[in-house]
Amino acid sequence: MYTYEELKQFVEHCPRCALAGSRRKAVMGRGNLKAVIMFVAEAPGNSEDRDGIPFTGPSGEILDELLSHIGITRQEIYLTNIVKCHPPRNRDPLPKEQEACIAYLKYETLLIRPKIIVCLGRVAACRIIDGNYKITREHGTFLYRKNTWLTAVYHPSAILRDPSKMEETKKDFEKIWEKFKELGQE
Ligand code: URA
Repeated sequence: MYTYEELKQFVEHCPRCALAGSRRKAVMGRGNLKAVIMFVAEAPGNSEDRDGIPFTGPSGEILDELLSHIGITRQEIYLTNIVKCHPPRNRDPLPKEQEACIAYLKYETLLIRPKIIVCLGRVAACRIIDGNYKITREHGTFLYRKNTWLTAVYHPSAILRDPSKMEETKKDFEKIWEKFKELGQE
């Protein structure tokens, strides 16, 4: 078993797909290594590529608003992405890029052992929950698999594009908080 620090070094120097040639910084996940809740988004954006930290751009502000709605901070959760490098022009990460990177997420999950995994957006939900996941219909619902509760919510950037999604996403976050309490974690 590698340590978290070793895993971070692998990610930061990863040569496994073509994104290694275009990235500025690979973006390892960040947060509480004993977190009960792990949030997984799709791939770093432009600000994250510059900073090497997840969700430092405008969608990070939306995420912080949602976390603060249920009274938690980034220090209490763990936040990561399916793909650790920025896909040019913010396109969806390609299946081969996801394939090359997914072992890092599996390893992060093994080390952190979250009880709840929240997929931020369709790409993460399709990768983690079900390849045919329909975010519009299924967001905010939970399923239990391999000792972990899984759910998905709209990606913060979808809320930036359509602010009317904020209210229902706040309700989904309330459900995440309920699940957290149900697990005796409050
Ligand atoms: N969007 C993502 O999917 N991940 C980030 O880290 C930032 C923006």
